[in-house]
Amino acid sequence: MENFNYYNPVQVLFGKGQIAKIGKLIPEDNKIMLTYGGGSIKRNGVREQVMQALQGRRVVEFGGIEPNPRYETLMKAVETTRQEKIDFLLAVGGGSVIDGTKFIAAAARFRGGDPWEILSREARVDDALPLAAVLTLPATGTEMNSNSVITRESTREKLAFSSRHVFPRFSVLDPETTYSLPRRQVANGVIDAFVHVMEQYYTPGGDPVQDRLAEGILRTLVELGPALVNDPPEYHSRATFTWTATLALNGLIACGVPQDWSTHHIGHELTALRGLDHGVTLAIVLPGVMQATAESRRRKLLQYAGRVWNIDPARPDAGALAIARTEAFFQELGVATRLSDYSIGAETIDLIMERFRERGYAQLGGIDDVNTGNAREILLSRL
Ligand code: NZQ
Ligand code: ZN
Repeated sequence: MENFNYYNPVQVLFGKGQIAKIGKLIPEDNKIMLTYGGGSIKRNGVREQVMQALQGRRVVEFGGIEPNPRYETLMKAVETTRQEKIDFLLAVGGGSVIDGTKFIAAAARFRGGDPWEILSREARVDDALPLAAVLTLPATGTEMNSNSVITRESTREKLAFSSRHVFPRFSVLDPETTYSLPRRQVANGVIDAFVHVMEQYYTPGGDPVQDRLAEGILRTLVELGPALVNDPPEYHSRATFTWTATLALNGLIACGVPQDWSTHHIGHELTALRGLDHGVTLAIVLPGVMQATAESRRRKLLQYAGRVWNIDPARPDAGALAIARTEAFFQELGVATRLSDYSIGAETIDLIMERFRERGYAQLGGIDDVNTGNAREILLSRL
């Protein structure tokens, strides 16, 4: 176990009916900006519940935050916070709305020049408007972490920042808000949560209790995934799914162990350049990363084979089988796992490699066995 410094101040209100409590958690005199996406919260009744809970309060709405939230749109929201003298941001939606709201919060109080530099140059965030979230899509873990991923439309860049000032003050996780999710988004969510765990578990390091926590989350997703996608929504499984996705990226399983994130790093380029859903990019890239690191991470691969997939680690093909089972799981959720399934060819791989070169990257995650030297092979293996 390596040293660590774990800080997570997010208050979590979990379960049905919890939206009704949000009014009491936002200071009485605050003017609130409710942020949302393309309108799903109007169709599924979540907006109505939120407005009910905020009755009598001063609320301004800002809608239209896109999936893979765009810097250009978010800067308009920053302008609105200034014009309207907003005190508190309430994000209602999926990861994009919450991430977008984190950026609005940081940019609104940024005094260091162009807020894009928060993303492009890791400019320090010293302050942010307070924010909270009502989550409607279990996937990213953003409801209980300090990360945000933003896309700049004009340059087709997708970059992340992290700051303890953008942890939500509270997050409501009501599994019933997920009932209206299309199958595709449920599948994306299961895959995203699964790969978040892999980025923190499938490394050459580890720790007995952290490994067991990670394997518990992975097995839960394997057991629940197909029914979540195929069956009509049901409270208990949606509740488990919601909390599982939060646990996958709220910092807990990362304590004291190495982390990778190369699959995400490569995946973000596929979204930025070709518009693929985040979860889809991960389903494509992860099997390639696992294949490329099968030797350098052999001990963990065999542990994963045995504990997550019940494959006898003594089998000579245990590692290969575990990688195949992982990919088959993504496919079973209805997600195609090859670049060619999305009409993406070698020219996009060239573009990605060019971008990595321009940015001066060598390593692509926290572990040196995925780097600009083998990223092309990894992507070519996924054609
Ligand atoms: O925009 P609306 O109309 O709300 O519709 C959304 C959107 O079209 C819809 N949706 C959300 N909840 C719904 C619903 N539709 C019906 N019923 C509901 N209850 O789903 C679509 C996708 O939403 P989005 O928020 O984009 O999905 P997700 O939560 O997967 O977020 C993806 C974004 O999060 C980033 C990704 O890169 C991507 O930009 N990530 C953020 C992370 C973080 N902050 O820690 C980590 C992740 O690795 C990830 O990178
Ligand atoms: Zn992710």
